[in-house]
Amino acid sequence: MDAPILRVEDLVKSFGSRRAVDGLSFAVAPKEIFGLLGPNGAGKSTTIGMLVTLARPDGGRIEIAGIDVVREPERVRPLIGYVPQELALYPALSARDNLAFFGRIYGLGGRKLAERVEAVLEVVGLRERGGDLVRTFSGGMMRRLNLAAGLVHGPKLLFLDEPTVGVDPQSRNSILEHVLRLRDEGLTILYTSHYMEEVQRLCDRVAIVDEGRLLALDSPKALIAELGEGLLVIGLPEGGAEALTACATTVNALGKVTARDGLLYVEARNVNKALLELLDLCSVRELGLGSLQVLEPSLESVFLRLTGKRLRD
Ligand SMILES: Nc1ncnc2c1ncn2[C@@H]1O[C@H](COP(=O)(O)OP(=O)(O)OP(=O)(O)O)[C@@H](O)[C@H]1O
Ligand SMILES: [Mg+2]
Repeated sequence: MDAPILRVEDLVKSFGSRRAVDGLSFAVAPKEIFGLLGPNGAGKSTTIGMLVTLARPDGGRIEIAGIDVVREPERVRPLIGYVPQELALYPALSARDNLAFFGRIYGLGGRKLAERVEAVLEVVGLRERGGDLVRTFSGGMMRRLNLAAGLVHGPKLLFLDEPTVGVDPQSRNSILEHVLRLRDEGLTILYTSHYMEEVQRLCDRVAIVDEGRLLALDSPKALIAELGEGLLVIGLPEGGAEALTACATTVNALGKVTARDGLLYVEARNVNKALLELLDLCSVRELGLGSLQVLEPSLESVFLRLTGKRLRD
């Protein structure tokens, strides 16, 4: 890896007796999109809060561009942009005035500020609506403006905390494309999400976290190759799923097999091979397939295997 732009070592943060972040370590290379993937309460926002100098760690070390974040937060702040999970905008101001406000916090003014505001409005596709009050914006437009607010001072490292929560699929797509474009323009991005499809599509590397701890760290592809299982979901005539469970468990190509609500769930590394085996079993018992769903190995299945939990509630 090139010299990392962000280095986190043994980071710890507790609230009372609960350890929200429990010894996290990772490093992010320049121009990387790095994902923090974990379920609700995994400690993603708490981690970001410390990385962006808003909260003090109980233990560990954070370096951004070689600067100690806890000791010299004021030197770090100009280098980083932060897009919080909750919208942080003034509804009674126009989009332009919101961005100017955030720019002034970072010491921008005059022509430079005006130029930066126009530039970031352009980046998020809101230039035409720049003069409109934010309270007249749709949810997706507010999310995009929230993103722009984190960019106005021209940071090197951008922290995005669940930037697509509560956004319709079209706006979500547009946000993802903006993020990719920003990386192409040289920004490093740390992205948290509990949407595994997003992380899979966007991130060069992913840290999977749960209960404040790092469970795995690699490219999505490598994680899936190493840990991912595909899943077959098969609808069978009444009693069929239960009948197949017992014998399916003994077939080599098949992983964990469970029956639930008339559906048979079969985990398998090689879903094609597993499917052939299952069709065999069904045909021997003269069971007709009611329905069939094939889920390829994904970060969702990786997560399921690592934690026994699903990513979403
Ligand atoms: N200010 C706080 N006071 C007490 N507990 C907190 C505080 N902030 C976070 N926690 C606890 O720390 C844990 C981690 O929370 P955090 O918000 O970091 O999770 P997250 O991964 O961002 O979750 P989500 O996906 O829901 O945003 C949770 O158990 C949460 O209840
Ligand atoms: Mg969060």
